[in-house]
Amino acid sequence: MSTPTQQKALFLQSKQGEFTLGTREVPQPGAGDIVVKNEAIGLNPVDWKIQTYGLLVEKYPAILGLDATGTVEAVGQGVTAFKKGDRVIYQGVLDNDRANFQQYTLINESLAAELPGKFSFEAGATLPLAYSTAAVGLYHQAGGPQLVPPWAEGGKSKYAKTPIVVLGGASVVGSLAIQLAKLSGFSPIITTASPKNVELLTSYGATHVLDRSLPQNALISEVTKIAGGPVSLVYDAISLPETQAAGYALLTPNGKLLTVLPPTVTETTEGRSVVSVLGVIQRAPNVEFGKALLAQLPALLESGDIKPLRVEVIPGGLGGITAGLEKLKNNQVSGTKLVVRPPETA
Ligand SMILES: NC(=O)c1ccc[n+]([C@@H]2O[C@H](COP(=O)([O-])OP(=O)(O)OC[C@H]3O[C@@H](n4cnc5c(N)ncnc54)[C@H](OP(=O)(O)O)[C@@H]3O)[C@@H](O)[C@H]2O)c1
Repeated sequence: MSTPTQQKALFLQSKQGEFTLGTREVPQPGAGDIVVKNEAIGLNPVDWKIQTYGLLVEKYPAILGLDATGTVEAVGQGVTAFKKGDRVIYQGVLDNDRANFQQYTLINESLAAELPGKFSFEAGATLPLAYSTAAVGLYHQAGGPQLVPPWAEGGKSKYAKTPIVVLGGASVVGSLAIQLAKLSGFSPIITTASPKNVELLTSYGATHVLDRSLPQNALISEVTKIAGGPVSLVYDAISLPETQAAGYALLTPNGKLLTVLPPTVTETTEGRSVVSVLGVIQRAPNVEFGKALLAQLPALLESGDIKPLRVEVIPGGLGGITAGLEKLKNNQVSGTKLVVRPPETA
């Protein structure tokens, strides 16, 4: 079947405006690019934050969406990594041809990875942004710990007997930070979550799951008991002012607190630092690291070292996105990634 010329897409009509379904042209692949027929798209908190607060995007109508899987529909000149029909996983970009809330997306071949056949498209779509945000924080971010990644020589299990705290382990970013911390050998891996998520987070590699409702003093006392003292690295996957304050209070001198939102801890002492992580890999300064990260992903998935996250499919294809974003905004999602299937769009 030939590639259609028109497709359905979800447009954010104006800054802080409404999402509406419409049609637009299917982009044509230039040199080095592939066109992916999106089979599953993951929703992220940043999608509703862009709509609500008018962040990050200046050109409207805009197409959002940063997590996707699908099949290669067409390849541009010089593409060698993929051919039509290949299953791929990739991160979208906030640029209308390259974002994900549409049925076909353009992407550079170097920023996609093969999705192994044993994983569903929905399972794959849980990963791209969370995987890169967790990995950039641990292994790449300027000012961060810049650990040796588990796929580099000597990296696997390098940090044995080093404690780490992941605040918000049931968030998708936290769930990937736990999995990568396990691959890097950290132990104990202490996380915070609702008690119902203990089993889930243990399955990702957490050694201790503390109740996220513990007051800061009780959290510090529990972590100190488990880790034998303060810790040198905290990944705060939630990064609200209160979690950042708790994360900072857990640090040793020279320790690092990684945040996924702008730092709210402004005064630091004894060499402690608070470092904000930029998880997107489609833009500088993460592109080269992103290519290496994606190159590792199929093998890490095949071996079970990286596990896709729990999925809830929101019905209605692209038309279901607004309901899904409402759930994320209202904190109604726990230990689960929301995914839609673009081909289901009415
Ligand atoms: N900097 C970047 O590049 C980047 C990239 C991706 C995401 N982000 C940001 O990172 C944050 C997390 O995103 P996400 O997609 O991973 O979120 P998510 O999966 O939607 O987060 C939901 C989870 O957060 C947990 N949670 C909420 N408040 C908590 C608290 N006070 N303590 C512990 N856990 C808490 C809940 O855990 P329980 O269910 O266990 O209660 C829930 O499972 C968002 O603010 C997002 O915008 C930033």
